[in-house]
Amino acid sequence: MKIRDVNINGFAALAPMAGVADRAFRLLCRELGAGYVIGEMASSKGLTMSDKKTALLLSVSEKERPMAVQLFGNQPEVMAESAVKALAYKPDIIDINMGCPAPKVTSNGGGSALMKEPMLCGQIVRAVKAAVDVPVTVKIRKGWDENSINAMEIALICEANGADAITIHGRTRQQMYAPSADWEIIRRIKEAVSIPVIGNGDVTSALTAKAMYEQTGCDYIMIGRAALGNPWIFPQINALLERGELLPEPDLNERLNTMRRHIASICKEKGERNGMREARKHAAWYFKGMRGAAALREQAGKLTQLSDLDILIHTAQSIIVK
Ligand SMILES: Cc1cc2nc3c(=O)[nH]c(=O)nc-3n(C[C@H](O)[C@H](O)[C@H](O)COP(=O)(O)O)c2cc1C
Repeated sequence: MKIRDVNINGFAALAPMAGVADRAFRLLCRELGAGYVIGEMASSKGLTMSDKKTALLLSVSEKERPMAVQLFGNQPEVMAESAVKALAYKPDIIDINMGCPAPKVTSNGGGSALMKEPMLCGQIVRAVKAAVDVPVTVKIRKGWDENSINAMEIALICEANGADAITIHGRTRQQMYAPSADWEIIRRIKEAVSIPVIGNGDVTSALTAKAMYEQTGCDYIMIGRAALGNPWIFPQINALLERGELLPEPDLNERLNTMRRHIASICKEKGERNGMREARKHAAWYFKGMRGAAALREQAGKLTQLSDLDILIHTAQSIIVK
């Protein structure tokens, strides 16, 4: 896929996931085969007020490229000003969040609440486009709720105002993350717009990735939750779509080695104390679906230093049913 002049290889992107898809996880997914990554959402207001924590969310390292940074907010001029500030981090693309369902974002009019104001969506895209010279993309949902399904209208407005690509998560804001995503809306939008369309929602395996491409005709796909504790979904998708090959699931040692590497990388980025706190959820995800792993997930919830992780890995090697 090409988003304006940015070439994006492969077949699947790692979705933006606040508090989860940080640099350590993005680097791991890129290394294993994700073709594109998007940073955790950053507040446009925070950026314009020079909040240091917000700025940290925007830094882009060379090995992550192509990478987008993502901004949220609801004021066109603030969004534009923050996009200019974001350029200091040299993102390949700037993505505008019009899909976040979290009340702390929507109660201020940002994220998916923007979908209730189609004209404002257009104004935001136009203002950001006028302010920066990198491609500008948007990420939307199906609509706010079942009574206001307007993804098509928003997609057309965003395109008319200069959006360079659009990601569609086929659920309303009211649906949050269940029931299953509607891929038909992705197909219809792909037919209606000329910019690249990235399909998102419920791709959980290489086979479902193939199905998303076939059923929607989308230009690229984006994967969120299914990558958690399972970055191998990217090489599996690449193998199936490039060569028709179904790769086996990684064995226990590969899982544990990758988890160790991932968590060491989190600690390198954030320090061992904070890093290990964040690592707890990731460690638990790596044991997802394994027989006999309930006790390991519990142990994962108590990690405080890297040496605890080595003990956890040792325990896993001795108790997991192979
Ligand atoms: C923990 C978590 C954090 C998320 N944070 C963001 C975010 O910062 N920006 C955004 O646009 N979407 C965010 N999302 C939504 C995902 O990018 C994605 O659209 C959603 O999970 C559906 O895709 P999936 O079915 O592959 O998980 C988040 C989702 C999760 C589970």
